[in-house]
Amino acid sequence: MEFSPSVENKGALPTSQVVPMPASRPPAPSPAQSAELTRPAGPGLHVAIISDGNGRWATSRGLPRSAGHRTGAEAARRIIEAAPRLGVHTLTLFALSSANWKRPAAEVSGILRLLHEYLLAETAHCVEEGVRLSIIGRRDRVPATLRQAIADSEAATARGTRLHLRLAIDYSAREAIFHAACRFYKVTELSPESFGRVLAEVYRGGSTEVDLLIRTGGEQRLSDFLLWECAFAEFVFVRKAWPDFTAADLEAALQEFALRERTRGALPGALAG
Ligand code: IPE
Ligand code: MG
Repeated sequence: MEFSPSVENKGALPTSQVVPMPASRPPAPSPAQSAELTRPAGPGLHVAIISDGNGRWATSRGLPRSAGHRTGAEAARRIIEAAPRLGVHTLTLFALSSANWKRPAAEVSGILRLLHEYLLAETAHCVEEGVRLSIIGRRDRVPATLRQAIADSEAATARGTRLHLRLAIDYSAREAIFHAACRFYKVTELSPESFGRVLAEVYRGGSTEVDLLIRTGGEQRLSDFLLWECAFAEFVFVRKAWPDFTAADLEAALQEFALRERTRGALPGALAG
């Protein structure tokens, strides 16, 4: 899909809602929340997952797509549980793309309902487990009750330090970058770092460099996820659909990641002298 605001913003996202930013956009975060584009504080990796394949998982079993999303939510619970002990400090899951508004309304509202259920059921558990939860993405198009649940979960889990769990809901990286660019004209210190800080403010939840990007479900594309943050990410594509993804699969992806030499454009270690 090529970028064309006039086409992409049709329907759910009219251009008039994009520029300027929606009035209902929440206020900018406190400086503590707006991490700049750096590695996460402390040890550990930032793993981002495009959790794809729920629908195909369900239809291949003769089930409605909603069953795939429900089983996918169970997979998310497993992976969130396993992540910290596998050395993951920040985990970003692509729960709902802004592009998903093109799907039937019943499917999208079903996914939003699952997210709401997740927040209500898991917030206390997150607090116990030291998980800090952030939502990245637009909040002005989700139901008000979900918006409130997001705010409550973020406030309740704000002190978690074991894992930063970021759920991307109604998220579009391109839109985030666009909004950051719109805000950037006010910034006097022009640098990639200051742009990263503005980007972190746009959708909140920080904006930290991704180390490893995993996509399940067999497709091999980025689908408008964390475009800026994945500049030097390693990609691992997994054929398994998301509902079948296990902690062992995450571990295998991390092992593959560990074998990659990350030069960031420099020479590999053996040649660097
Ligand atoms: C990913 O699974 C989950 C969401 C987009 C919410 P899909 O729903 O895209 O499943 P497939 O790709 O159609 O199998
Ligand atoms: Mg898909």
